[in-house]
Amino acid sequence: MNQTIGFIGCGNMGKAMVEGIMKAELVEGDQMIVSNAHPEKLQELSSIYDFYISDNETVAAHADILVLAVKPYLYSKIIDEIKDYLKEDVILIDIAAGISIADMHEMMGKECKVAKVMPNTPALVLEAMSAVSFSKQMKQADREIVWQILKSFGQACEVEEHWMDAVTAVSGSAPAYVFMFIEALGDGAVMLGMDRKNAYHFAAQTVLGSAKLLLETGMHPGECKDMVCSPGGTTIEAVSKLEEKGMRSALIEAMKACAARSKEMSQT
Ligand SMILES: NC(=O)c1ccc[n+]([C@@H]2O[C@H](COP(=O)([O-])OP(=O)(O)OC[C@H]3O[C@@H](n4cnc5c(N)ncnc54)[C@H](OP(=O)(O)O)[C@@H]3O)[C@@H](O)[C@H]2O)c1
Repeated sequence: MNQTIGFIGCGNMGKAMVEGIMKAELVEGDQMIVSNAHPEKLQELSSIYDFYISDNETVAAHADILVLAVKPYLYSKIIDEIKDYLKEDVILIDIAAGISIADMHEMMGKECKVAKVMPNTPALVLEAMSAVSFSKQMKQADREIVWQILKSFGQACEVEEHWMDAVTAVSGSAPAYVFMFIEALGDGAVMLGMDRKNAYHFAAQTVLGSAKLLLETGMHPGECKDMVCSPGGTTIEAVSKLEEKGMRSALIEAMKACAARSKEMSQT
């Protein structure tokens, strides 16, 4: 693509997206311009991919597509700071939990082009799952640009905006629960005598392989689970213990709390 992508804020999520986009070679270094509260934190990444580091106003002035990758509570302050510098036709990408397209229009003081996106950190290894909703000001060509960006670092689906709290719970925040699961599997293996390095390797590859099996066969997760559970065998013993300890309900309750927090953030 030949547009310039700007990022304001480049922490955990911003870095994963910037690095994903650069690894995928969607743009050249001189088409990526990034700012951060502490810009020195970006030196190492910028020396690898050769993108520009600048201040918020300069990023706003140069970006054709601008990703706001700061915490939700900073959106209003940053938009106030940059709105006079933005290009007339800029596409704003809002990745913040709880900040809607309507919130963006209110902060901008006009109905501008907004893509509401919920990405996740596997963007760093080009395996993100992102959801997107578009404001009605986004023309087909604008949407294509956003699709190109999102697909450069993983998969993406358009969803109705009212799904975004659910998306936050099932993919935006979910890598954290998956890492907890892998860490717990690793702890279990260590407890059973395996060394930690192998334990994490076995656990992570098992999660990766299981996800791939599900996605590539299109099978129901329950069917995949049943394939491992032979009658009277070892796996059904483990499954029974997980049910007794409430693994599924713990996860569902955690996701309800996550979505509620996302909704709450949109009202503050
Ligand atoms: N983390 C995730 O997995 C994830 C997933 C989906 C969506 N999100 C969304 O992504 C956004 C960022 O989250 P995060 O986890 O990446 O947070 P983070 O790691 O704290 O990153 C935020 C970045 O913003 C920078 N920043 C703070 N004030 C700034 C300012 N005035 N001007 C320019 N940069 C400023 C910070 O710089 P310093 O570090 O130098 O202070 C930091 O690098 C949030 O809105 C969140 O809802 C995150």
